[in-house]
Amino acid sequence: MSRAEKTVFIKSYGCQMNVYDSSRMADILERDGYRAVDTPDGADLIILNTCHIREKAAEKVYSELGRLRSIKQSGKTTIAVAGCVAQAEGEEIIARAPVVDMVFGPQSYHRLPDFLATVETGAKVVDTEFPAEDKFDHMPAPARTRTEARGRTAFVTVQEGCDKFCTFCVVPYTRGAEVSRPVEKVIHEARRLVAMGVREITLLGQNVNAYHGVGPDGRDWSLARLLEALAEIDGLDRLRYTTSHPRDMDDALIAAHRDIDILMPYLHLPVQSGSDRILKAMNRQHTRADYFAIIDKLRAAKPDLALSSDFIVGFPGETDADFEDTLDLVSAVGFAQAYSFKYSPRPGTPAAEADDQIDEAVKAERLARLQALLREQQATFAKSLEGRTLSVLYEKSGRKPGQVIGRSPYLQPVVVNGDESLFGRIESVRITTAGPNSLLADRPMASAASTASLEVPA
Ligand code: 5AD
Ligand code: SF4
Repeated sequence: MSRAEKTVFIKSYGCQMNVYDSSRMADILERDGYRAVDTPDGADLIILNTCHIREKAAEKVYSELGRLRSIKQSGKTTIAVAGCVAQAEGEEIIARAPVVDMVFGPQSYHRLPDFLATVETGAKVVDTEFPAEDKFDHMPAPARTRTEARGRTAFVTVQEGCDKFCTFCVVPYTRGAEVSRPVEKVIHEARRLVAMGVREITLLGQNVNAYHGVGPDGRDWSLARLLEALAEIDGLDRLRYTTSHPRDMDDALIAAHRDIDILMPYLHLPVQSGSDRILKAMNRQHTRADYFAIIDKLRAAKPDLALSSDFIVGFPGETDADFEDTLDLVSAVGFAQAYSFKYSPRPGTPAAEADDQIDEAVKAERLARLQALLREQQATFAKSLEGRTLSVLYEKSGRKPGQVIGRSPYLQPVVVNGDESLFGRIESVRITTAGPNSLLADRPMASAASTASLEVPA
């Protein structure tokens, strides 16, 4: 049976979970005869997989839809808006951008073939339900061809949604309540990926360390237990997980950083603010002292652990003193990397209703000060690696011919001289120079490098 080939262009905004979801949508569509392409021009189907976390991210969708209008006029392209903007705004999107044919939220991806059939009849689709069934049960496994093309690192969603209701955040509304995938399904997906050459897996969840998927024994397993089981997979050399909440950083998970060799010594543990008053107003359910205590335990368990965080400046009611507390927390912890944002009021969240919103100019000034400090810490951390030997997983060609880029255990790009025969290999290299955004390294002697004994578990 031959089917006319159709093409799909998927653009992901926002977090890594959207990247993962986009790849799973591509897997579903492949089954329906769609080939993924990397430009929207001439595509039969265009999907914008959107992010609603801050206003700027959400607005990007509308500017992209404006650009897509001309593509739509010049051909018969179906345009879909998926992801968190779709979930939050639903049919308003079609009202504002009539070029859109389909709007569907993150819990409906498995219904894509049905949606396409509906659009064929000339109708529009809006689906922002939270269906009872598990979308993963209805999605094909990651396809071999695309997994191979995506390289040696992969994401696996293990948990979705959030019950924490931080007062600034839309996630509990757009992604729904916290749900964990069963252990066996996660392990099965991981094994498949490893069989296709993947060497590093990052477990994803909005609140990944709250994971409590049902295990083969019928009991709920914690993330620590899941990591232990995954670490047993032959050929899997690196494990990571993101994003974590300080409240769920339990002792078993902290111990996992000590006990699981392949768990990378790098943790993204967002704290958002260093002020107890603001943490309370954010409903973070922990204090700054709690955060310090967790960091102390983590560092006792894993002395070379590097930390990353998210910060919000200019949350409603944030005073200069509160902001100084954030700077002070940053100085006390020392982050290898971090993301920081100006508070962006999101419709429907409690903090958006607060009277004491902070002036944009004040937010901008605080953000600049915080980012200067974080940049300095990032550079200090990178410098501390000069002269050290780190494991690197080679992934892709560098900008200059004869260069290859890999990832350090701390997710920094590491540039070495070499060719694509290195892709997928893990090797210990000596860091020579730490630049602002990448590290330069010397590979071991070429003759030695060709022996398998140099392959370290990371
Ligand atoms: N405004 C600014 N930043 C936000 N984040 C989440 N919601 C908002 C908001 N309304 C940030 C938090 C979170 C990261 C993913 O995005 O720091 O950890
Ligand atoms: Fe949002 Fe807070 Fe949940 Fe993170 S823990 S997804 S910031 S509500």
